[in-house]
Amino acid sequence: MDLTEVVAGELGHARDRTLGLLEPFDDADLLRQVSPLMSPLVWDLAHIAHYEELWLLRAIADATPTDARYDDLYDAFRHPRRERSELDILGPTEARAFAADVRSRVLDHLATVTFDGDRLQRDAFVYGMVIQHEHQHDETLLATIELMEREYEHPEVGLPGGSCASGQQVAPDAHSAGGGNGFVAVAGGTVTIGTDGEPWAYDNERPAHTVELAPFRVGARPVTNAEYAQFVADGGYDDERVWSPAGWAWRMEAGLAHPQGWRREGDGSWSRVRFGHRDALTPDEPAEHVCWYEAEAFAGWAGARLPTEAEWEAAARSGALGHTGRVWEWTASDFLPYPGFESFPYREYSEVFFGDEYKVLRGGSWATHPLARRATFRNWDFPIRRQIFSGVRLAADDH
Ligand code: AVJ
Ligand code: FE
Repeated sequence: MDLTEVVAGELGHARDRTLGLLEPFDDADLLRQVSPLMSPLVWDLAHIAHYEELWLLRAIADATPTDARYDDLYDAFRHPRRERSELDILGPTEARAFAADVRSRVLDHLATVTFDGDRLQRDAFVYGMVIQHEHQHDETLLATIELMEREYEHPEVGLPGGSCASGQQVAPDAHSAGGGNGFVAVAGGTVTIGTDGEPWAYDNERPAHTVELAPFRVGARPVTNAEYAQFVADGGYDDERVWSPAGWAWRMEAGLAHPQGWRREGDGSWSRVRFGHRDALTPDEPAEHVCWYEAEAFAGWAGARLPTEAEWEAAARSGALGHTGRVWEWTASDFLPYPGFESFPYREYSEVFFGDEYKVLRGGSWATHPLARRATFRNWDFPIRRQIFSGVRLAADDH
């Protein structure tokens, strides 16, 4: 199949996913500010369309903007999420029409494109970026929907551990090789991190470069609910010694006592509210909806630590990591540029986030589309955030 057909097909799949996720909601729900942490669902929809117009029509096809006001309204940097329902944003009908109009013009233009030569290789990246962008916002939609705490039926959230539809692994399942819940030894040495060759890799995954790693051990799978419940039962949330000073301050301020969504039953057992369904906590599933500070404290309690992102990637490439792609795995690392980083195609994708404010997550969650999931993919968020589908994998020094 020709690359333009692949691109057209993937654009279509992403849009089917977006519209399918939003399908159960009426207009009031779509416009609602569900949480100060998240945009109204309809903002994400129009933002997806605006981003597509910007990159696939205005940047590469010399098109004029549908409406100049959208550059302000749908710029994620100009308006914090908590204020987006107050803006004069498009309503659901208008947002759907805008998205459909942009898409039909994109497909018209795509029909005139051939992906060869330098210039067109670059354009092929931009199509990949726009497709991944839509899928990443679909994951964001799911986090917003989770926060509604209303019964939500959708094939992607039908299983307690997440969907098989997007359940591909970046590495083979190391469960058997790694020995249950144990650690797997990774040799370390000179390892290559990042990529030059992945055509749809983002700027922050480039360039490929080597790092020196001491030998280490890494969890064969992410920390489970049962393991996390032991940490809670052992008083981990009240034991300042296992928290960093910043983590402890946040734990006190936010009143953290368990992961987001956990509920104590009358008999002392835990249940978990997941997309509005309250069910007994599934012991073998990865613990989910913890912030970086909780991940760090869990690791301290367990006598271990979080892997650095270089360790994570080296372990993933060596096949040591089982059960990836279920929860985003917090790493010890700040979100920093790789040596030789060049921002592409715009500074606001990655560069403006670099620094010690954000921590890197790796591996992808059940809500992450396979096109936005690879061993080199770097996600990032503030260490206090846990509405994302985030969990913990442990690491330890080898000795
Ligand atoms: C990579 C998830 C941190 O949501 O801010 C969406 C992805 N970039 N639109 C984000 C993104 C532009 C990004 N994260
Ligand atoms: Fe975006």
